[in-house]
Amino acid sequence: MSANDSPQGHQPTAAYDSAFMKACRREPVPHTPVWFMRQAGRSLPEYLKVREGIPMLESCMRPELVAEITLQPVRRHGVDAAIYFSDIVVPLKAIGIDLDIKPGVGPVVQNPIRTRADLGQLRDLTPEDVWYVTEAIKLLTAELGGTPLIGFAGAPFTLASYLVEGGPSKNHEHTKALMYGDPRLWADLLDRLAEITSAFLKVQIEAGASAVQLFDSWVGALAPADYRRSVMPASTKVFDAVAGYGVPRIHFGVGTGELLGLMGEAGADVVGVDWRVPLDEAARRVGPGKALQGNLDPAVLFATREAVEEKTREVLDAAAGLEGHVFNLGHGVLPSMDPDALTRLVDYVHTRTAR
Ligand code: CP3
Repeated sequence: MSANDSPQGHQPTAAYDSAFMKACRREPVPHTPVWFMRQAGRSLPEYLKVREGIPMLESCMRPELVAEITLQPVRRHGVDAAIYFSDIVVPLKAIGIDLDIKPGVGPVVQNPIRTRADLGQLRDLTPEDVWYVTEAIKLLTAELGGTPLIGFAGAPFTLASYLVEGGPSKNHEHTKALMYGDPRLWADLLDRLAEITSAFLKVQIEAGASAVQLFDSWVGALAPADYRRSVMPASTKVFDAVAGYGVPRIHFGVGTGELLGLMGEAGADVVGVDWRVPLDEAARRVGPGKALQGNLDPAVLFATREAVEEKTREVLDAAAGLEGHVFNLGHGVLPSMDPDALTRLVDYVHTRTAR
């Protein structure tokens, strides 16, 4: 750790006193902070312009471009946090896994991991493997000033689902076949992924990220008992690995209503909630001592302005008794969304919650 650490841990930036960081720490806030998962991306014309002709994974390896794309939604919408522009498969690519991100499809892996011999594809990640992340975050923290930067990674289960299936999957059949059929190999795979993910998050925090989010997007496919037995140990390992930095740790997945308590228990400071569970009920499931993030249904943004405001009020009302609330969508921004509707939503939440 560096010399300018505060007593709270690794907090070298001006962002420490921002509304977002305060909400994550469950301290009083001047207004409810807002950011959007997938805020940097295809709903922005300025994003499409700078990405023109550059494949997704290549764009993640160019520090100036990463910094520009990360800053675009902050400039346009006035969100309370930036999220580092990258993808959950970037650290896997960085250690030499043969994969690509296909437009309109998602990550596709050339040689899926299904046997013990296949585990050999997963070597340790070093900071040199992802030098461009360190470079980009240095550029970003200089530009962002008091706006926090959220680093992120895919959680072991969600990364495993891409690696084992070989690409996006609806039923996760190969993944579950391995998890149920060869628990030893499964545990070893998740443990390797936990190490890679931990190393990747550490790189981002040491470069200056103010908070981290662990995306376990597809873990809602599991029953609580299977989550506890087969996934939670690896996710806990990741959260423990970065606990000493004192940066807020956010944990999010889709369709995780039945898992919210366990996902908090895994080691999150902030639990992300999709739109299926109201935030007051989510707080009961998560229990005390954690902030919540969420949870407007992204599809609401396609409705009328009045409907957006009404549904937003429902979210804010349900959040009224929470210890800490970070406003977000219940999942990512959709490519066809009107960027102006997102800007209006940020303004609406800020105005309505100003204290
Ligand atoms: O939130 C942000 O603005 C930061 C950027 C970000 C991307 N991917 C950029 C991206 C983040 C946080 C992610 C995480 C990610 N990637 C997750 C977890 C979050 C979630 O949505 O649940 C997952 C499951 C992935 C895997 C992935 N990568 C998918 C499903 C896709 C979409 C495929 C498609 O085109 O429909 C990608 C590609 C991707 N990641 C794009 C972007 C901007 C689109 C790439 C392009 O336009 O060429």
